[in-house]
Amino acid sequence: MSPKILLIEDEPSMRLGVSHTLSNAGYEMDAHENATSGLKSLRSNPFDLIITDLRLPDINGMDVLTMAKELQPDVGVIIITAHPQVDSAVSAIKQGAYDYISKPFSNDELLMVVSRFFRFKELKQENVRLKKTIQDKSMLDKFICESPAMKKVMDLVAAIADTDVPVRIHGESGTGKELVTNALFSLSARKNKPFLKINCAAIPENLMESELFGHERGAFTGAVQAQKGKFEVANGGTIFFDEIGDLPLSLQPKLLRVLEDQSVIRIGSANPIHVDVRMIFATGKDLKKMIADGTFREDLFYRINVVPVTLPPLRERSEDIPALISYFQSQYEHKYKKPEIKIPTHVYRCLLKYDYPGNVRELRNIVERAVLLSTGENIHEEALPAAIRESTCKALKAMEEEKLPLEEGIKTYEKQRIVKALVETNGRKIKAAEQLGISRKVLWKKMKDLDIDQTDYGC
Ligand SMILES: Nc1ncnc2c1ncn2[C@@H]1O[C@H](COP(=O)(O)OP(=O)(O)OP(=O)(O)O)[C@@H](O)[C@H]1O
Ligand SMILES: [Mg+2]
Repeated sequence: MSPKILLIEDEPSMRLGVSHTLSNAGYEMDAHENATSGLKSLRSNPFDLIITDLRLPDINGMDVLTMAKELQPDVGVIIITAHPQVDSAVSAIKQGAYDYISKPFSNDELLMVVSRFFRFKELKQENVRLKKTIQDKSMLDKFICESPAMKKVMDLVAAIADTDVPVRIHGESGTGKELVTNALFSLSARKNKPFLKINCAAIPENLMESELFGHERGAFTGAVQAQKGKFEVANGGTIFFDEIGDLPLSLQPKLLRVLEDQSVIRIGSANPIHVDVRMIFATGKDLKKMIADGTFREDLFYRINVVPVTLPPLRERSEDIPALISYFQSQYEHKYKKPEIKIPTHVYRCLLKYDYPGNVRELRNIVERAVLLSTGENIHEEALPAAIRESTCKALKAMEEEKLPLEEGIKTYEKQRIVKALVETNGRKIKAAEQLGISRKVLWKKMKDLDIDQTDYGC
């Protein structure tokens, strides 16, 4: 759905021009020549943004601002002013307008101020969303840590959460780095302040600098308006830098300066701006190796490594697996409205023994899939992914068969061979008997003794 903008502008050419530029840029426009009709529309339709002239024939733009905020408190307001009215525009901002734009302005300037508003709105929503997810989860209850290794991690997290020291969380993919970050944030005194997440691997190098540090008007082609970077937006709060190993080398000294001086300099400016931001870094990469290769700065490493938190891979803390299985099992039973499901012993053993290269995330996905595919009250082995069936389950079966008394071992082997032959011959007993080198009568007797029926070979 395109963002909706209400425009109130009495000058026809200005109204048409603004409408045209913004609808071409993909916004849904509703234009009015006076405030009365604009506010009428606002009473019955939700808008994301209002652009209103300060001087209107019927109601003054400042009053439009007040009434609009009463009708839709979350709506953004941008005021159009003529130069002599700049003072009033500033007081409009004090009263809750997002920004102003003074006439005459170019299409680029207009687009810039509007897109800046939507970016600001997005950040605000992201911030609210992150905080809400964290509160909803009441974090620490949901952090499963039964193993001594994870208990140690959680003690450390609890001890450092309420300090401002930079924290570096290291661990393979899926070990819970983001979960630990959320816990650090929600236990800190900054929990009601902004919380931004930046994935250093996802932002292109050429955009990263302006994204982090902001820029002044005219700093580069296209910089028609000054813009705050994430450090300024997160001031007073916390920034989580995910995949810090992917931060371009060119930006590493700049990040180091923020860590050392607590100040940022926007692109195109020489004035440092003080920022107070707690920083948490996560990486799955071996930063020491990157230092040796010359792709990560050693001075930055020591700055972000004040408190290192290492999350061991799941295969090294198998005590956590049973608790994680039952945690995810009840979560997904609830989500998919399934009755309480039983995990047969051989399936459970496979789950305990598997080595989880994708760590907790992989275990979570396996349990989700198994719960989803379960029929009746049981989780079947077939509901486990091939990777675990082919390796762990097979190996466990082989080991168990070796431990069986000879008689039973032979029976299991016979049953497997017969079922395989029946599957391969689509249940045709003459062919299966031929393949096994026995008579049809013997096959029939063995099937009876070994309790083999159609459900075993599925034909
Ligand atoms: N100890 C735990 N208790 C409960 N859930 C966990 C635990 N550890 C991880 N998880 C869950 O496993 C999933 C992966 O965790 P998370 O996203 O924090 O991993 P990550 O280390 O950030 O992975 P990546 O390096 O791929 O970004 C999430 O759904 C998370 O909630
Ligand atoms: Mg992560």
